[in-house]
Amino acid sequence: MGPPDAILGVTEAFKRDTNPKKMNLGVGAYRDDNGKPFVLPSVRKAEELLISQKLDKEYLPISGNAEFCKKSIGLAIGDDNSALADGLNVTVQGISGTGALRIGSTFLSKFFPGPKTVWLPAPTWGNHVPIFKHVNMDVQQYRYYDPKTCGFNFSGALEDISKIPEGGLIMLHACAHNPTGVDPKQEQWDEMSKVIKDRKLLPFFDMAYQGFASGDVAKDAYAVRKFLADGHKICLSQSFSKNMGLYGERAGAFTIICNDKDEAARVLSQVKILIRPLYSNPPLHGSRIVATILNNPDLHALWLEDVKGMADRIISMRSKLRSNLAKEGSVRDWTHITEQIGMFCFTGMTPDQVAKLTKEFSVYLTKDGRISVAGIASSNVEYLAHAMHQVTK
Ligand code: LMR
Repeated sequence: MGPPDAILGVTEAFKRDTNPKKMNLGVGAYRDDNGKPFVLPSVRKAEELLISQKLDKEYLPISGNAEFCKKSIGLAIGDDNSALADGLNVTVQGISGTGALRIGSTFLSKFFPGPKTVWLPAPTWGNHVPIFKHVNMDVQQYRYYDPKTCGFNFSGALEDISKIPEGGLIMLHACAHNPTGVDPKQEQWDEMSKVIKDRKLLPFFDMAYQGFASGDVAKDAYAVRKFLADGHKICLSQSFSKNMGLYGERAGAFTIICNDKDEAARVLSQVKILIRPLYSNPPLHGSRIVATILNNPDLHALWLEDVKGMADRIISMRSKLRSNLAKEGSVRDWTHITEQIGMFCFTGMTPDQVAKLTKEFSVYLTKDGRISVAGIASSNVEYLAHAMHQVTK
């Protein structure tokens, strides 16, 4: 018997709990202010449109829905980015972010000319490590989070990155870093871009939260666009699980920006050869929803409002949690709750405190002290603050 998954196993344990006050702050899945799963109004409208079109259910090509791929990469790097006009991008549909990472890691394990080692931030999303290990890549980490400040360890990150052997592979969270909620500032990204260029590293961006960090999809794409402007060739995985709430639809994309059109054609042919025995071709419905929203100016505008609404509700839950902790009489410094961004807050609670929170208060979260702020509602934020104070005082 193997161990439960570090993130999805938390949901399994939550479901078994019969306490009516229980809270699931484990998995990063957005809830509305009543604690219920939220289907975005723009998604509902796109689905109505799709149903009225009475479309067929034929197989997609191996590389996925072409319209979806085009709109996804346009959203990430800007529709007017010259890499698109020049045909330098290979963009294929993936089984959401994990599947996109899986395609990328599989491709790189076979064709990356540099050392078969990936450098991940410490800490990183729990699934990054097994994804790269499954394709037999070596996994190393660079300093990222500073537990002393609950913020970004900029000098530590730069120092470690500058020591990565030349020609290596580095993974970067494009925005709303998971699990810490700590992102580099724009000028820090600029500096990192230079060092990564000096070391001739290939940056692989994981962008699972575009729009969730700031509520603004262009602002959240700053790092990806800046690296391209600085002349990097990049890999990119995208997920629409969070920003379109399409968790179970598994809509995502993997992109490699190539040196020229000819290289792009060869890369695409190899990527297709890798995908075919993995899952043949990707699912249809989620990709149609995304393409419909991104192609239709009214739906696109509505979606931007939906994303902003979700980001704003999370921001308001952060302040409520912090002020309620103060009301409880907590003397700990909880500034980071409102300073970190995105879906998660890396609370700084120890594994023992986390275990107590779950055992005594039925509050479920990952062992590293990460809470999904998106899972808190106005009706239980006081309960959560009370519970957190009890285990940390
Ligand atoms: C998370 O980190 O909670 C999400 O990305 C969901 C997942 O698949 O782990």
